[in-house]
Amino acid sequence: MQRLTIEQNLENSKTRVKKNDIEYCLMDCLGKDRAFLHTQKKYLLTDEEQIKFNAQVDKLKKSIPLAYITGFQPFYNNNFVVTPHVLIPRPETEILVEEVIKTGEKIYAEKQSVKILDLGAGSGCIGLSIAAEKPKWNICLSDFKKEIANIIYENKIRLNIKNCVITVGNWLTAFSEDSFDIIVSNPPYIDKTSDMIGDNVREFEPSYALFADNSGLSYIKEIIVSSKMSLKNNGYLFIENGFDQSEEIRCFLDKHDFKDIKVLLDYNDICRFIKCRHKNG
Ligand SMILES: C[S@@+](CC[C@H](N)C(=O)[O-])C[C@H]1O[C@@H](n2cnc3c(N)ncnc32)[C@H](O)[C@@H]1O
Repeated sequence: MQRLTIEQNLENSKTRVKKNDIEYCLMDCLGKDRAFLHTQKKYLLTDEEQIKFNAQVDKLKKSIPLAYITGFQPFYNNNFVVTPHVLIPRPETEILVEEVIKTGEKIYAEKQSVKILDLGAGSGCIGLSIAAEKPKWNICLSDFKKEIANIIYENKIRLNIKNCVITVGNWLTAFSEDSFDIIVSNPPYIDKTSDMIGDNVREFEPSYALFADNSGLSYIKEIIVSSKMSLKNNGYLFIENGFDQSEEIRCFLDKHDFKDIKVLLDYNDICRFIKCRHKNG
């Protein structure tokens, strides 16, 4: 195996994969930042670094997402461990975190306490981001597989978060009545036949995190119906949804006694989130 400098590695790999992705792999293999790559171009990789880098470039060539190669994805104010068991956190989901924090602040100002459930937590990016920002709030994160709970736990430990609990269960079945001030969920909401998702998403991200029956709405509807029990009086429900689902969700919420229904937009002005309150708690 031939060892190369940073400059040679960048040059060699650039024709087949994105320059940005190559730089991230180099930063990961060297444990250095981008400034190092640009100021130390003649640095010769060690055997170990070169082997790791070559393996990562091979994976990039197979279109494996960068986050699954380096094992990390930045989200909100932190870096999250990700494995192919969990969805790679998306930038638009940060809007959901901000909206939940705004609402939580109002509740906390009134009651000096707030209890939030992140349902279908995946890497834990939503719930742990909120917990990290608001150490006095109580956050619960739940998903349906032990392997996923282990990743949430790893992120909790890495981020030194104390104010959260992690549970394993099928949606809301594990929770008792009147438990939460806020339930937030980014559930699977893509129709299985959709041609709107990239080939590498379909191939590499877990199907149980992406797809749902009934035009992608089956889990969203299940969560809406069951959240009525687990929300406290006048509690809030926040849901992330697909680009064309807002109207049907709004009607469904209306039929199921939710009020103050608001559609929130993502960075591309797509109707991406719903915020609402249950009428009778
Ligand atoms: C779109 S991903 C969202 C992950 C993470 N919250 C995020 O925003 O990146 C949906 C999550 O729902 C979880 N999920 C799927 N079926 C579930 C079920 N029956 N009960 C609980 N969680 C489930 C998946 O494991 C996955 O982590």
